[in-house]
Amino acid sequence: MDISKYAKREILQLAERPTPRTPIPRTGDIINLGAGDPDFNQPPIVAEWIKEAIEAGETHYTFQGHPEFKKTVAEYYSKYGVKIDPETQVIPTSGGGAALFLTLAATINPGDEVIIPDPAFQGYINPIKYFGGRIVRAKMRKTEDGYFRPNIENIEKAATEKTKLIIICNPDNPTGCIYTMEELKEIARIATEKDFLILSDEIYNEFTWMGKKHTAIATIKEAVDRTIIAMSLSKTFAWTGLRVGYIIAPKELAELIWRVPIGVSTIPVPIQIAAAKMLREGWRFHEEMKREYKKRIEHCVKRLNEIPNIKCVHPEATFYLFPDITETGIKSTEYTNKLFEEERVRVAAGSTFGEMGEGHIRIALVASIEKLDEAINRIERLHKKLKK
Ligand SMILES: Cc1ncc(COP(=O)(O)O)c(C=O)c1O
Repeated sequence: MDISKYAKREILQLAERPTPRTPIPRTGDIINLGAGDPDFNQPPIVAEWIKEAIEAGETHYTFQGHPEFKKTVAEYYSKYGVKIDPETQVIPTSGGGAALFLTLAATINPGDEVIIPDPAFQGYINPIKYFGGRIVRAKMRKTEDGYFRPNIENIEKAATEKTKLIIICNPDNPTGCIYTMEELKEIARIATEKDFLILSDEIYNEFTWMGKKHTAIATIKEAVDRTIIAMSLSKTFAWTGLRVGYIIAPKELAELIWRVPIGVSTIPVPIQIAAAKMLREGWRFHEEMKREYKKRIEHCVKRLNEIPNIKCVHPEATFYLFPDITETGIKSTEYTNKLFEEERVRVAAGSTFGEMGEGHIRIALVASIEKLDEAINRIERLHKKLKK
């Protein structure tokens, strides 16, 4: 049967599932460092919170999201000094992905241009295309010491009167960079001059290293009225399967987003209640995870740099490494295919994230140090074979 006749046109134009998200068996000796799914399980109290909420009868419609969740989100984000009205500015979403999707659903008309950096999180591409948006890439620049940075000149060049939105990922997946206040001010200036919106994906805000701090673009006066913030508990508390995220937006934009006809607010109520508790009480658990990630980063950066033909900078943020493998002389997809087929290690090819990602691989540090060590042994073995 030709199924395409039943399909919405835009669906057929979308790329298939990107490699890091292709399901692979959890068994055997495969080490999966492809998707950013943290390997930490929940403290038992989370299950109790969910159970208590169900037992207390918190199982009814909350059309606009649970007030307690929205209030806690507003309190949490006010740590940046941004004033948020929970009732009119917070939209619960089932994860960061849904926060992005709903924002695009509310704003993108066919033909609208959306600026995204290159490289960038591959999850931005398909939703933009689905709504008929035109993607305009603004290449990042790579510094001499190997760090990717947003390139303001390229963002300025990418902006036209058709630009509806820029998406920034701050801190950035896959490069691990944190936008500086100067860079954010420049982006705010361009957005104001050219009159477009800023979608700021900040889901890695709590994972910063090297004494760096995440700076929120909504703290810039010029930007605040045109900034939509996409957030998620997926990484902060390893909640990838519990699906909790949210949007913070200026009142008028939030009203537009609420009009997207998906029906009822999409997070189950008991989970919203547990999420609110987690945002208040889950920080010890988060700090433990963070300590572990820090150890993993230090260890893996050091070990990778000992392998010939691989250069790895210490990320400023996130739990990804984005080493440069250009000197192996092969493309990143060939490299990742070989690494998977010959050594049973899944990592993401840099080209998945855009042209500028070519010559890199992204390693998600979502396994124990012992497993990561074994993955690096296998990478080392692959490099020895490649040299022959
Ligand atoms: C930059 C970025 N934004 C959004 C998402 C989606 O997050 P969620 O799992 O909460 O939908 C991810 C997931 O990896 C991500 O890396």
